[in-house]
Amino acid sequence: MQALILVGGEGTRLRPLTSTIPKPVLPLVDRPIIAYMLEWLRGHGVTDIVMSCGFLASGVRNVLGDGSDLGIRLRYVEEPRPLGTGGAVKYAESLLEERFLMLNGDVLTDLDVSAQLEQHEHTGARATLALIPVDDPSAYGLVRLEEDRTVKEFLEKPSPDQIDTDLINAGAYVLERDVLSLIPPGVTWSIERELFPRLVGQGLYGFPGEGYWLDIGTPERYLQATFDILERNVHTGVDLDAGFLDVADDVESRGRIVPPAVVQAGASIAPGGRVGSLAVLGRDVKVGREATIERAVVLQGAEVGAGCQLEQCIVGAGARVGEGTQIDGGVVLGEGVTVGAGSGLSAGARIFPGVTLPDGAIRF
Ligand code: GDD
Ligand code: MG
Repeated sequence: MQALILVGGEGTRLRPLTSTIPKPVLPLVDRPIIAYMLEWLRGHGVTDIVMSCGFLASGVRNVLGDGSDLGIRLRYVEEPRPLGTGGAVKYAESLLEERFLMLNGDVLTDLDVSAQLEQHEHTGARATLALIPVDDPSAYGLVRLEEDRTVKEFLEKPSPDQIDTDLINAGAYVLERDVLSLIPPGVTWSIERELFPRLVGQGLYGFPGEGYWLDIGTPERYLQATFDILERNVHTGVDLDAGFLDVADDVESRGRIVPPAVVQAGASIAPGGRVGSLAVLGRDVKVGREATIERAVVLQGAEVGAGCQLEQCIVGAGARVGEGTQIDGGVVLGEGVTVGAGSGLSAGARIFPGVTLPDGAIRF
């Protein structure tokens, strides 16, 4: 089976993390975000995968290569300009088989795509959309279903008065290639706004899935995905031991690591430091004396000074946080940011790559 994964979005809502790294290869716990999707697909026997890239495409290719490390065949298609979700699949048409999977690349899920495929075959559908219930469908594609699972209506980003079901488009489709004949070539086109509404009554089915599903589009959801992987709320390949820890052999910890937590190779924790629960330290991260890091992610090579308190935040690769600084409230530090000693960052502040904040800086 073949899959086309869309990874051409700019990941604007995850800036400043995605200012320097393309979202698909941004580390999530111990591997690139997209690796979870590739492993999930491989588990369902999907080994021929086409990546539909746009923004920073070479960055994706440099990390994932030809897929042989993962036991799959990976090919890349690079649009000259973003063509939208429909334009992107049309652009990749010549590489696609008669029937293929199409996926939004920013989703962490363990839905049963084999069962979805079975339903697709059984109903003779032209397109079958995986569906998942969410509390607030307004940021998604709302899907109204008939009893027989044919789609009655597809409404992308519905307004509050249009919401009468909690089922949304999970961004995982089985498609027959002939539906691509409905998409004009070479133009920007939205599969959600233009193709699916047109396919209603023409072989468009929904498959209400069960399992874990999360769109990793914002810093809050990036943290949520991290916590869910650490707590094993989603089935992934992250290798936590029975005590919900994964600490590399060469980690030098003279403090405490409280599960669930992942601490990668070369990291060090000074006396009195506490990492966890629900924390990830990337490679070579240094945590100073008496510093605490809880419900937070610190990416490769960052340094957290003595006495810092970090909670509910993401520290970009190579960032430096001065002594006694407090960071919480969904703050994101970009790559290489320096925050001076005795500072306080809160309320979703986002500090862009390369910025230096002086000692005692306060940002909300
Ligand atoms: N190649 C390419 N070109 N990929 C693109 C483009 C493009 O022009 N635009 C977006 N993508 C990719 C993004 O990288 C992402 O992986 C996927 O397409 C979906 O785009 P998002 O921008 O993340 O859309 P969304 O989250 O607002 O909504 C979509 O996903 C929801 C589920 O997460 C829609 O499909 C909704 O209907 C759906 O509910
Ligand atoms: Mg999305």
